[in-house]
Amino acid sequence: MTTRRPLIAGNWKMNGLKADAQALSRDLAQRVNKAGGIGFDMLICPPFTVISTVVGAVAGSGVAVGGQDCHVAEKGAHTGDISPVMLADQGCQFVILGHSERRADHGETDAVVKAKAEAALAADLVAVVCVGETESQKDAGQTIDVVASQIAGSMPEGADAAKVVVAYEPVWAIGTGRTPTVDDVAKVHAAIRDEIAKALGNDVAAAMRILYGGSVKPSNAKDLLGLDHVDGALVGGASLKAEDFWAIAEASA
Ligand code: PGA
Repeated sequence: MTTRRPLIAGNWKMNGLKADAQALSRDLAQRVNKAGGIGFDMLICPPFTVISTVVGAVAGSGVAVGGQDCHVAEKGAHTGDISPVMLADQGCQFVILGHSERRADHGETDAVVKAKAEAALAADLVAVVCVGETESQKDAGQTIDVVASQIAGSMPEGADAAKVVVAYEPVWAIGTGRTPTVDDVAKVHAAIRDEIAKALGNDVAAAMRILYGGSVKPSNAKDLLGLDHVDGALVGGASLKAEDFWAIAEASA
């Protein structure tokens, strides 16, 4: 059996001014340092404006930093956008792509997410590709079809387990305090792994990390992270409190 090291990723979304960002990321780095060895990888994805603050605060701890989005181009006339090369230049190793808030607020399609993921790989960033069904799709029994088609459409050319992480985030579970049952999460994650195998072969699928996201908190982390095909978490709200984020991370190890 392939061992996949859990990845615990914090998606700060549009939260964090310099002082808070520094305090929170420093607190996490200190916990990692104090623990000596940890059985998981930790990733913080802050807003663009505090990336360099966070990179400085976690330096030497092994905590990785990522962006929450990037443009497809390396540079050019794209006012307000940030390129993957710029993220890498700031010290990022990851970038979240296709988050449902980007899909909803900015009309990002699978094709856009795929193009961004390819640009991210070209800049040596790991792409965290997000998929997930809406509540009406869930109610219509379409969850697996929706997620499978998002995977098929969003997976970048050249993807492998070192370059891509998948995050399953049911849209209706994000920020709502609601989560699918563990059985449902187990089923969807297994289906996602099958879909990755179809696209990239069994070996890549066996090694690729599939995170669960959507209302993960300390009280449900152990059940969710204990599932076979759940290889970590993408955490929103609870990643803004060091204690909660750390408790979730510890539940994965
Ligand atoms: P949440 O967000 O943990 O606040 O539900 C998760 C996410 O959107 O990545």
